[in-house]
Amino acid sequence: MCCKAEAEYFSKDFEWEELKAEVEANPSLRYHLLPCEPSSLSSSIHSTEAEADIEAWKRFHIRHFSGKFFKERRYLLKEFPELVSCGQNSKVLEVGCGNGSTALPILRGNKDVIVYACDCSNESLERAKDIIGATSVFSFNHRFRTFCCDPSTNGFPKWLACNPCRDNFLQKQSSALPDVKEDSGTHVTDSYLSEEWDCCIRGVDFVTLIFTLSAIQPEKMARSIEECFAVLKPGGMVLFRDHGLYDMTMLRFEPDKRVGFREYMRLDGTRSYFFCLDTVRDLFLGAGFTELELDYCCVKSVNRQKGKSMRRVWVHGKFQKPALSS
Ligand SMILES: C[S@@+](CC[C@H](N)C(=O)[O-])C[C@H]1O[C@@H](n2cnc3c(N)ncnc32)[C@H](O)[C@@H]1O
Repeated sequence: MCCKAEAEYFSKDFEWEELKAEVEANPSLRYHLLPCEPSSLSSSIHSTEAEADIEAWKRFHIRHFSGKFFKERRYLLKEFPELVSCGQNSKVLEVGCGNGSTALPILRGNKDVIVYACDCSNESLERAKDIIGATSVFSFNHRFRTFCCDPSTNGFPKWLACNPCRDNFLQKQSSALPDVKEDSGTHVTDSYLSEEWDCCIRGVDFVTLIFTLSAIQPEKMARSIEECFAVLKPGGMVLFRDHGLYDMTMLRFEPDKRVGFREYMRLDGTRSYFFCLDTVRDLFLGAGFTELELDYCCVKSVNRQKGKSMRRVWVHGKFQKPALSS
């Protein structure tokens, strides 16, 4: 994200409802609105699709290994200031961390936070560690811990929050839980953890879901959000940002790239879903979260070379796991 965009992080350059009316009245865009047959695929075909998705992301990360693709999301802390103001040793879980575009500004913005970062692609985790390692700030390496995981299929590992802790989160105040020893490594595995740690890290304070949910098959989104709920401490939050309905990049997809309702596949096989507010709301409230913030972020940017104005739409959301009374 460039400096200009930093200042635009929470903009309302145009009204989303006006864009919607325009899109829906435009015959050349009608194919985006057509219903798609509900998927009649068997679960085994769904899981083959999920494997193909992960392979596509791995190829994507191998292709972009050079690092030119990396853009630090500096606007993130303005949009989610709780990442700066949170207490010492707060734990953040960045889901689908890619090459660290979200993890790095969090580490920079708060010297006391620990970031656990997962991705379905080991290639991206390696790249993220390289990029964060190259900042030559020792404490970044120390506070950045990666692991390979696809929460939509296998859930999060139990070392983030073991079953008794997950149950405890639903029964009593998290402050009643003793803290456990932290690891000092940068890449964590179950076997390593079971030796070093008591049972788990007792859950996390924040989950960041930044342009990751849209990459997951819609049928698997609810499971992913439920997993976020399970590993969050009571009172913890999901900080969400993703592609919004009628974003310019959605309207540019040709009809043959539609793979579902509001869902498209790029040439490289990675998929992208475009969210309306109700879909996001239903997913989070359905998992037990309370809505704190949810809105479209509408930014008009101008391509000066081409003289074209582009209307970008993102969804910004904050959802909280209810705190428990003592
Ligand atoms: C658009 S990138 C976003 C990266 C990062 N969150 C950021 O702010 O730039 C989406 C990331 O999600 C990862 N991803 C896609 N599907 C996933 C899944 N099912 N489980 C875990 N990670 C996934 C991809 O490998 C990719 O790194």
